[in-house]
Amino acid sequence: MSDNKVQIFDTTLRDGEQVPGCKLNTEQKLIIAEQLDFLGVDVIEAGFPVSSPGDFASVHEISRIVKNATVCGLTRAVENDIKIAAEALKLAKRPRIHTGIGTSDSHIKHKFNTTQEKIIERGIAAVKYAKSFVEDVEFYAEDAGRTNNEFLARVCEAMIKAGATVLNIPDTTGYCLPEEYGAKIKYLKENVTGIHNVTISCHCHNDLGLATANSIAGVSNGARQIECTINGIGERAGNTALEEVVMIMKQHPGLNLHTDINTKLLYQTSQMVSENMGMFVQPNKAIIGANAFAHSSGIHQDGVIKNRETYEIIDPIEVGVTESAIVLTARSGRAALAYRAKKVGYELTKIQLDIVYQEFLKFADNKKEVLNDDIHIIMKNANVKTQAN
Ligand code: KIV
Ligand code: ZN
Repeated sequence: MSDNKVQIFDTTLRDGEQVPGCKLNTEQKLIIAEQLDFLGVDVIEAGFPVSSPGDFASVHEISRIVKNATVCGLTRAVENDIKIAAEALKLAKRPRIHTGIGTSDSHIKHKFNTTQEKIIERGIAAVKYAKSFVEDVEFYAEDAGRTNNEFLARVCEAMIKAGATVLNIPDTTGYCLPEEYGAKIKYLKENVTGIHNVTISCHCHNDLGLATANSIAGVSNGARQIECTINGIGERAGNTALEEVVMIMKQHPGLNLHTDINTKLLYQTSQMVSENMGMFVQPNKAIIGANAFAHSSGIHQDGVIKNRETYEIIDPIEVGVTESAIVLTARSGRAALAYRAKKVGYELTKIQLDIVYQEFLKFADNKKEVLNDDIHIIMKNANVKTQAN
């Protein structure tokens, strides 16, 4: 694998599915897993098998049908969780067990009421046990974002010695600033013996709206896997949005990083997840929101009609959106009206456009958006004779 390839670990079906009220049944999970495999993700985290018979069944079935991606099951650092995950993953072509434990002072004290040494011991035991079932074992240091770097480095080194192949450094509470998260990854790269033989993974939550920035800071400092979800769904404010990190790496060649995602399937995949989960995508969501390629102010519309790149940094086709939208509102100018009128069959001279535009403004002031059918009414009201086709 190239040093500059960033693996995309999709956790839509595990962390993403932790969204209240957005439960998927096994059939829906299979449809989404198949789509993620087409999309080109490297790892599909299919669920938390010990958590319920339904989750076990989903991980089992996903393991059976996925052709290319690694299929991963989550566990706590608990023997029974690991045994059940191994059982659920047994049909996977490339199985991975994802095990781990909290490492921040807050988790050690309040969740486990134990000591740092005991946390390391439990982590080692979990990794070794997972390793008795599968070769590929990922360890998560939960709340690594708020874990002291020196202790985190000790944990990482111990897990590498125990056999972990991937080290997940989650910013579980979405607390870190990008510089801080990037510096954490750099610190681990520079201070953990054996780190060059494993993959460092970023798993960032969005509580402060920094999940994407933190993940990019992570890979800019040497991490080579990003854990993310379609549409950025997940617990509380969600996880890193897959479509965002993938397009950032694609649009910024200077980062010198790439993924294997077929970006032309991003919009379709986003719609599929949104429909199955019954979870609406905010219109201004980057990359796949309904307004991501829509232009409504006159100045922007004029620019985009002259040359798309004046106000768009991504060609919508690259993410599976057929074309940019010129939305007609009372803020639109003559250029947008002439453009749309032409699309629906009216070629207007400059004088005609002036007359029709006044009629258009009256109409648009009473409507949020002027649609194609409205154009015919406006043309009739303006009483302008054109070559309507
Ligand atoms: O956010 C988190 O720390 C997690 C771990 C269980 C990987 O989701
Ligand atoms: Zn998480």
